[in-house]
Amino acid sequence: MPEFSNPDAYELWMGRWSARLAPSFVEFAHLPKGGHFLDVGSGTGALAAALLAGVEDGTVVGIEPSEPYVEYCRERMRDKRLRFEHGDALTIPFEDESFHGSLALLILQELPNAPRAVKEMCRVTRPGGCVATNQ
Ligand SMILES: C[S@@+](CC[C@H](N)C(=O)[O-])C[C@H]1O[C@@H](n2cnc3c(N)ncnc32)[C@H](O)[C@@H]1O
Repeated sequence: MPEFSNPDAYELWMGRWSARLAPSFVEFAHLPKGGHFLDVGSGTGALAAALLAGVEDGTVVGIEPSEPYVEYCRERMRDKRLRFEHGDALTIPFEDESFHGSLALLILQELPNAPRAVKEMCRVTRPGGCVATNQ
């Protein structure tokens, strides 16, 4: 598993491609324009940024286990509708049905138990909400 400790290096390697992919993924998910949305494994924030742009009045939380990545996003993406927290996809630190949608971009390959992460995404998403990931 790659060690995700250097967000600047990640941006050069992968994040710039994530930033191109994320808006299409959000469009594909066909989310409501308002609500509360979760980016699981937010990395350097590509999906969170696309969600923020895509859901207009909605709010977005990114969770990510790598502290340097969380700090990177907090410093660069200041918006009152957006926040980043330390968190693990396998034990998402939110209550049941907290979100209108839970999305994850390019993270399942990093996880020892991807089905558990998807189950967690379903748990924290309201009935009728969107759970979407890509692989
Ligand atoms: C390939 S990067 C994708 C990051 C971002 N979603 C993007 O599209 O650029 C994989 C991300 O998964 C995160 N990750 C690894 N294990 C995780 C876990 N157990 N829970 C949540 N995220 C995890 C890594 O720290 C890294 O930020």
